[in-house]
Amino acid sequence: MIAGTGSYLPRRVVANSDLESFLDTSDAWIRDRTGIGARRVASDDEVTSDLAAHAAERALERAGIAREDVGLLVVATVTPDTPMPSCAVRVQKKLGLGTIPAFDLSAACAGFLYGITVADQFVRSGKVEHALVVGVELLSRVVNWDDRTTAVLFGDGAGAVVLSGGERGGILGASIRADGALADALVIPAGGSREPISRGDDVGARNKVQMVGQEIFRAAIARMSEVIGEVLDETGLGVDDIAAFIPHQANLRIIEAVADRLGAPMSKFVLTLERYGNTSSASIPIALDEAVRSGRLSAGDKVVLAALGAGVAWGGAVIEL
Ligand code: UT7
Repeated sequence: MIAGTGSYLPRRVVANSDLESFLDTSDAWIRDRTGIGARRVASDDEVTSDLAAHAAERALERAGIAREDVGLLVVATVTPDTPMPSCAVRVQKKLGLGTIPAFDLSAACAGFLYGITVADQFVRSGKVEHALVVGVELLSRVVNWDDRTTAVLFGDGAGAVVLSGGERGGILGASIRADGALADALVIPAGGSREPISRGDDVGARNKVQMVGQEIFRAAIARMSEVIGEVLDETGLGVDDIAAFIPHQANLRIIEAVADRLGAPMSKFVLTLERYGNTSSASIPIALDEAVRSGRLSAGDKVVLAALGAGVAWGGAVIEL
């Protein structure tokens, strides 16, 4: 079951109009082409594991589960504090989670779906009773702030859930997929073994996010629609059985196209992108937490989650709260 949810957004709000002062862009273009109105940006003294720890603490509090009872920590992120070790061990230390297994999972915007799918195996098998899954990104540190085609899209944030054993609810069906043929369509080219960065190298912006937006756009519509169909079939559920759809928050036009293909009304889609932009692996757990806390979703509701991002990696799930 989903025992609790939590989220954390940095306080600093950067509106589209703030970007107009240093980028050749406009609030009208960004809203029209993406649906984004603002994003949160972490303060200089915040690191990824801080955001993750805040969200995780809130999820544990709402679940009413003591830290010593958590048996597994999975942190989905592509923006860890340091390339080595994992962000998860830093979150583990900050939360005082003892010596439980803790690891990062790199599946970009689909990271949270990968994370809950993996953690669910541990819970279902009885290996652990409670697993903490966090989706967290500090994308403002890897965005090229001189590139209007990407800088306007992303934001910082964290969301978390506690998955627990038990008869009721949880993940009713899930599917995760990837296709490396599009690996370079959304990429940070330098900083890995392919293009290491040495002191004094002029890497330009090659250690920042680059995207062929339209390729990802097309893949997102096709794959998210497909995977939602797959998990609805797997669970024997139809659109009418679903209380809400929580898609990855990359672009309102992608979400509208997916809704159209599914024949689902937009009123069933939970949207946060106007306020937070694209927070990659954090976008779904943030939206889920907000929908639960606002009372839009409650126990027993069935919810569809779906995302596609860098890799490309994608996934879908039907969960019951
Ligand atoms: O989270 C991972 C998954 N990511 C996604 O799903 C993102 C998928 N891609 C997208 O959402 C869209 O492709 C974008 C929002 C990134 C771009 O929208 P688009 O409608 O595909 O725009 P475009 O790339 O075709 O660009 C259209 C025009 C270009 O100008 P020209 O060549 O027509 O003169 C761009 O240079 O818009 C220009 N443009 C901008 N103008 C003002 C691109 N970015 C901006 C901007 N402000 N920020």
